[in-house]
Amino acid sequence: MIADVLNFSVAEVHGVVTFYRDFRREPAGRTTLRICQAEACRSVGAEELAAHAKRRTGVGFGETTYDGKLTVDEVFCLGNCALGPAVQVGEKLHGRVTPARLDALLGEVR
Ligand code: FES
Repeated sequence: MIADVLNFSVAEVHGVVTFYRDFRREPAGRTTLRICQAEACRSVGAEELAAHAKRRTGVGFGETTYDGKLTVDEVFCLGNCALGPAVQVGEKLHGRVTPARLDALLGEVR
């Protein structure tokens, strides 16, 4: 439908939608948790934070919880490198996020 409306080929639309993570083929959860996985954040525990998020939510990057409340995504730099690990919950940016702090943030979402 998008290709028809914009007069692009289906392949062009598919390429853009699958390349950029902000485009989705299915609706996102009510809130999106984005965990930075770029180098500065990885050097201070972003990988462990992502693993913790997966254990707590039951979903990995690009997935949505069964109740539709939360989508978890990875992002490569939120511009908050000095305060890593950085996460974004909805529109709000958070720095120096520990697993305990992430649990608190997730508690607010749920
Ligand atoms: S590397 Fe994580 S905010 Fe820049």
